[in-house]
Amino acid sequence: MKDFKFYAPTYVQFGRDAELKTGELVKKFGGKKVLLHYGGQSAIKSGLLKRVEDSLTQSGIQFVKLGGVVPNPRVSLVREGIELCIKENIDFLLAVGGGSVIDSCKAISAGRFYNGDVWDLYLRKGVATEYLPLGCVLTIPAAGSEMSDGSVITNEDGGLKKDYCVDEFRCKFAVMNPELTYTLPAWQTACGVTDIMMHTMERYFSKDDEMEITNSLAEAVLRTAKSQVKIALANPTDYTSRAQIMWAGSVAHNDLTGCGTSGDWATHMLEHELSGMFDVSHGAGLAAMWGSWARYTMHENIARFARFAVNVMGVEQDFHSQEATAEAGIKAMEEFYHSIGMPTSIHELIGKEISDKEIEEMADKCSNNGTQTIGALKVLNRQDMINIYKMAK
Ligand code: NZQ
Ligand code: ZN
Repeated sequence: MKDFKFYAPTYVQFGRDAELKTGELVKKFGGKKVLLHYGGQSAIKSGLLKRVEDSLTQSGIQFVKLGGVVPNPRVSLVREGIELCIKENIDFLLAVGGGSVIDSCKAISAGRFYNGDVWDLYLRKGVATEYLPLGCVLTIPAAGSEMSDGSVITNEDGGLKKDYCVDEFRCKFAVMNPELTYTLPAWQTACGVTDIMMHTMERYFSKDDEMEITNSLAEAVLRTAKSQVKIALANPTDYTSRAQIMWAGSVAHNDLTGCGTSGDWATHMLEHELSGMFDVSHGAGLAAMWGSWARYTMHENIARFARFAVNVMGVEQDFHSQEATAEAGIKAMEEFYHSIGMPTSIHELIGKEISDKEIEEMADKCSNNGTQTIGALKVLNRQDMINIYKMAK
């Protein structure tokens, strides 16, 4: 069993009308002047942004607004946010949105006091030593950024998508009202649940799998997300399913489902190149890659894939062949993806045939020109990446 560190300091305010407490929470965590960061239209249209503004005002918190975060958030807006924070003497960041808005806030947090360009941090060319504190009002359960230590940013100059992870990126608080997710389009609901499940699966498919409490927690999160998404898709205003998906999103990525395991993350790394190059939704990109990754690596721990098949996918155990059980589990997962509208190949994801040249370019970026490997269940080099992309074609 692997030694582990567990650090989940985020104060969670969960339930109906939770956003009305935002001002109080900013105050509790010492904010006096806030950068209110949000996305395109959804938070304005639903009236959420106005409710958050009113809550801040009622608590005597000043704020400056910066909207326009797009999915796969761009470093150019991050730079704008940093300038604004300096000019306006901002002391707290508030994200109203999903993973993209929260990640953009985190990048602003790291870049605010960094003596250089914020993108250097994502390229591991520098380290930030001081951070602005942040909180969030979550509107889509998916990325888990509300409790995670990560931020993923896209540099539109070159289509590079990179992550940066530090404990200072853990939100001081996360406001989670499941009702805020009623307006999610079916596609975003499904992408979100795919990402939630994948955050658990990245930790679950490990060689360090002897910690039963972690295994059982992971399987419970997976079964819950898998069953509740069907209910939410059929009835978008079903509070109970929306609430369970929302909480699953946080539990899946606050490290609880990975205590004592290694964590693989190869599917995520392969996907980040897809969304960097084709600007696709992260969750859909994961669904397009996972089956190919699974078939390529399953022999590293066939018993684990067989257990997943039975305990999560409800496949009947083939007592003569663990391999057949494992393969049936992968197939069942792909059928599940299709049943919620997710793709299971790159072709389905981007709507055209990907070229070998594009695959080579993604493998170059993912392996940093052949100098880096990814994955832990099976360590993957540049050629492995090409092989998996080709299987997923
Ligand atoms: O911009 P608006 O108009 O708000 O629309 C958004 C956006 O188009 C919409 N949306 C959000 N809440 C809504 C809503 N529409 C209607 N009603 C609502 N309540 O949904 C779209 C997607 O939003 P986004 O924030 O991009 O989604 P998500 O939370 O999936 O975030 C994806 C990003 O997070 C990164 C991904 O790579 C991607 O860039 N990730 C971040 C991680 C982390 N920080 O720990 C880990 C993840 O693995 C992931 O890589
Ligand atoms: Zn993810």
